Amino acid sequence: MAETAYQKCINPECKAEFSCNESFFKCPDCGDLLDTCYNWDKIEVPKKLSDFGKRWATRENRLDFSGVWRFRELLDFCPDKYKVTIGEGQTLLQQNDMLAEFLGMKKGGLYLQYEGLNPSGSFKDNGMAAAFSHAKMVGAKSCACASTGNTSAAVALYAHHCGMKCTVFVGSGRISFNKLSQALDYGAKTIQILGDFDDCMKQVQAVCSELKLYLLNSLNPFRLEGQKAIMYRVLEGLNWSVPDWIIVPGGNLGNSSAFGKAFYELKQLGLIGRVPRMAIINATGADTLTELVNKRNLKWNDGKVDKKIIDDFYAELTAKKFSPHTCASAIEISRPVNLKKCLRAIDVCNGVVRAVSDEAITDAKALIGKFGLGCEPASAATIAGLAVLLSEKIIKPEQTVACVLTGHCLKDPDVTVNYHKNKSGRYSNPPVECANDLQQIIELMS
Ligand code: F0G
Repeated sequence: MAETAYQKCINPECKAEFSCNESFFKCPDCGDLLDTCYNWDKIEVPKKLSDFGKRWATRENRLDFSGVWRFRELLDFCPDKYKVTIGEGQTLLQQNDMLAEFLGMKKGGLYLQYEGLNPSGSFKDNGMAAAFSHAKMVGAKSCACASTGNTSAAVALYAHHCGMKCTVFVGSGRISFNKLSQALDYGAKTIQILGDFDDCMKQVQAVCSELKLYLLNSLNPFRLEGQKAIMYRVLEGLNWSVPDWIIVPGGNLGNSSAFGKAFYELKQLGLIGRVPRMAIINATGADTLTELVNKRNLKWNDGKVDKKIIDDFYAELTAKKFSPHTCASAIEISRPVNLKKCLRAIDVCNGVVRAVSDEAITDAKALIGKFGLGCEPASAATIAGLAVLLSEKIIKPEQTVACVLTGHCLKDPDVTVNYHKNKSGRYSNPPVECANDLQQIIELMS
């Protein structure tokens, strides 16, 4: 397979290349991020995107059933015998006119890509199908990740499926109980560190280097290859047309990086005529990307990213002992590991970045629940961000917009119940207490 794909350092002054049969989570030469690259002339990529859709007719083939491997020529880094799937990517692009109208958009233009329908309840399964396939290809026996909850749930599920040992690192008290329950139930060794996600991320890298474990965070370039499939399915849901905008929450910035790469490659292959714009939405309590891009003017700059801007900002965070805080615990991250790749995605997709408050996130979440299939708080940042970009007239009411709802609505019910019960938001729908008495019940209902 070495000739269809290889790994390459994104640093233009390094550009070191490695075989896909090796496993690193950083460039061994310079420490920068690695990409999975393809020799497209050696891959038989379908001539048009709609050819992938024909695989719906052969769903008894496990690879055609998978919402990731259905697009396998676009992530051709391992032989079929290693490909792992547990049925990820059976997700839905829901056209949502009620929400569109509520937000002042034209009917027909707003779509919600509900990744909560994945086996572990979040978009992470897309990336895990790809990364665990790579892990199998390189013969890994034991793996680890740091997580704000969803990665740990997905890693634990796929590791169990692959017969691999797995350890997950989470910030103590920093992840929702439901996500913690998944990791425990799927049999992961769960280490709760007295710190935040950024602390866990640092420790897990050290542990993986020291103990030679396979790392499954989005530093792993093969994980991002799987996450590209979310965008292929958005295009498929739009009958292979390209929306004007993609909106995605920003945490460790793996998704936004993967989406930018997906569109860059599709354009390069002539499978799409234009690239959509992308909006990446932070929570205000964890807004590193917003600060660096909007206030400090950090840019991709053909890969020559001004490291001093990042280092200075991180030094400021350290000096004030900053730890991020948001009700959207999934994106409670202040040192996103894919920052540079995300800058590249912003460059490719003419992207914008915004931060939205917890109040805006929980209000948006209630609207998505009321009008749609619901989602977890981090996912709702997309609709809160859309409202901001509509008010700034950056997104026009008649444009086509696809918001990625990254996690299931049952991932974090504490936030939901508190929002409604405490009447803390604009759309709170509190439960009503009543005596066990028919007359009183009827009175209450009238
Ligand atoms: N939405 C949800 C539901 C998430 O779980 C995450 C990340 C994001 C958005 C942000 O995505 O990192 O690609 O920018 N969760 C990771 C985890 C960090 O550990 O579960 P990103």
